[in-house]
Amino acid sequence: MTEIKYKFPEGFLWGGAIAANQSEGAWLEDGKKPQATDVMVGIITDGHTPGVKYNDEKKKFEIALHKDKEYLAHEAIDFYHRYKEDLKLMAGMGFNCFRTSISWARIFPNGDEIVPNEAGLKYYDDLFDTMLSLKMQPIVTITHFDTPLHLMMEYNGWSNRKMIQFFMNYCDVIFRRYGSKVKHWLTFNEINNIFRMPFAAGGVIPSHYDPESKDFSANYTQKELHQALHHAMVANAKCVKLFHELIPNGKIGCMIAGSHLATYPASCDPRDVLATLDARRNTFLFTDIMAAGVYPEYLWKKWEVEKITPVMHERDLEIIRTHTVDFIGFSYYYSNVCNVADGAEFFEGTLMKGSRKVKNPYINDFSPEPWSFPLDPLGIRYVLEEYTDRYHKPLFIMENGLGLAETEVPGQPINDPERIRFLEEHLKQVFLAIQDGCNVMGYLWWGPIDLVSSGTGEMRKRYGFVYVDRHNDGTGDLHRSIKQSYYRYKEIIENNGL
Ligand code: BG6
Repeated sequence: MTEIKYKFPEGFLWGGAIAANQSEGAWLEDGKKPQATDVMVGIITDGHTPGVKYNDEKKKFEIALHKDKEYLAHEAIDFYHRYKEDLKLMAGMGFNCFRTSISWARIFPNGDEIVPNEAGLKYYDDLFDTMLSLKMQPIVTITHFDTPLHLMMEYNGWSNRKMIQFFMNYCDVIFRRYGSKVKHWLTFNEINNIFRMPFAAGGVIPSHYDPESKDFSANYTQKELHQALHHAMVANAKCVKLFHELIPNGKIGCMIAGSHLATYPASCDPRDVLATLDARRNTFLFTDIMAAGVYPEYLWKKWEVEKITPVMHERDLEIIRTHTVDFIGFSYYYSNVCNVADGAEFFEGTLMKGSRKVKNPYINDFSPEPWSFPLDPLGIRYVLEEYTDRYHKPLFIMENGLGLAETEVPGQPINDPERIRFLEEHLKQVFLAIQDGCNVMGYLWWGPIDLVSSGTGEMRKRYGFVYVDRHNDGTGDLHRSIKQSYYRYKEIIENNGL
C-alpha cells in the first residue's frame, strides 16, 4: 500500500465547483430571462462590448447580441437537463460536497418582481435533493456573474441603491426555501473583480455609455464603481445578517479571486515592495470589508482626494462592521510579480497598480499556450497563510484548477498528467498550510466537468476530470467521458490525502 504522507484532517470537504452561468445552458427555459453573462462572450471585455445597446429614442438599454459571435453559455454543457448523470459522475470520485450557484434570473427573472418563479425554485430543490441523495453537501454561491439583465438595464445595477432590496428579496426566498438542505453559502462570486470587470462581476452598465466607444470598460466612472462597491458591501453584510437569523446552523462566506494576493515584489528594492503592498490591496480590500468589517484608511483617503466618496446611509457602516462572514472562500490559479520600474498596469481601472506582465525568474513552469500562466503551487500556501494571519477565520479553497486544450480519441480516456501534477502539487501546499495552523475547511477543484470558460467564453479551455463533447463552434453531441485525472482525484479523496 502506498504511504500517505499528506493526510488531511477528518471531515475535510473534498469536491469541485461549477457555476450556473457556465454549465446550465437553458438560458431562456422555465421562465428564466437573460442575465449579465448571457450577453457576453467571456467576461474579459477588452475591445468587446457586451450585447446590449442604448436606444436613444426610447432612452433605455436593450439587448443586441452580436450576430457573428457564438454565445456558448446559452446551451453550455446542458447541466440543466443532465445534472443527474453529471452529479453521479462527481459522486463517483467520492466528492462529499459540490459547489454550484443559483441562477438569480431563474428565481427572479427580471430581478425586481415580488413573487419568485416557482419553476426555478423547483429546479434547485431537485438539484440539491439529488446532491444530498449522493452524499454531497451542496455549497451554493448566491450570485456568480449573473445579475438579471433587467436590473442592469433599468437600474444601472449595483450603482443603484435599490439593488440592495432586490438582492435581499432574492436571499430571503432562497434561504427560506433551501435552508434545511444547504448549510454552506457564498454571497458574491469574486466580487473583487468589480473594478476590472464591472459588467459581469458588479452588474453595472456605465451610466455615461458611449455607443461609439470601442472600449466598453472605459465608459465607467470611478464614482459609479465605488458607489456600486458600497452597495454590494452593504448587501453582503445584510445578507450575512439575514442568513444568521434564518439558518443559524449554517455558515456563510465571501468568495474572492485570490490569485492576485499572491503578488510578489520583483526585487527587494523598497519601491517594489511598497508597490506590491499597493497591488495586494486590490484583493485585501474586499476581505477587509466583508471579513473584518472595515473600509481601510487608504480607501477613505482616495475617496476624499478624488471626490468620489459613495453616498451612504446612516447605519451602513455599522451594518458592515457587525455582520461579517463566517469564512473566507477564494480561488487560486497563479501568482504574479509586481515591478515598479516596469510600471505595467495590469489592473486597469482598479484601485492600485500591479503587474503580472513581469515574468518571475524563479518559476519555469507555465500552463500550456494560449492561456499560459505561471504554475506556482507555493502561491496557494502563501494566500492561505496571509489570510489566516490577517483575519483568523476558517478558509475554504473554492476554486483551483488547470485549463487545457484537449482532444478526445474515442474509446480512450484523455491522458492529462499535467492536471494530475497540478492537483497534487497544490494539495501538498494546502497540507503544509494546515500544518502551519491554517484552518482549511475544504478544497474544490474548478470545473470538475468541462464547462464554458468564464474569461473567454470558449469550450476549448477544459478544466474537467470529465470531458464534455462540445466545441468552440457550438458543435458536439455533449457526451461525457472520464479522463485519467478522474481516477487520481478519486484515489486522493479515498485516502483523505496523498
Ligand atoms: C474564476 C471564476 O475566476 O475563474 C470562474 O469564478 C472561472 O467563473 C474560473 O471560470 C476560471 O477562469 P476561466 O476564464 O478560465 O474560465
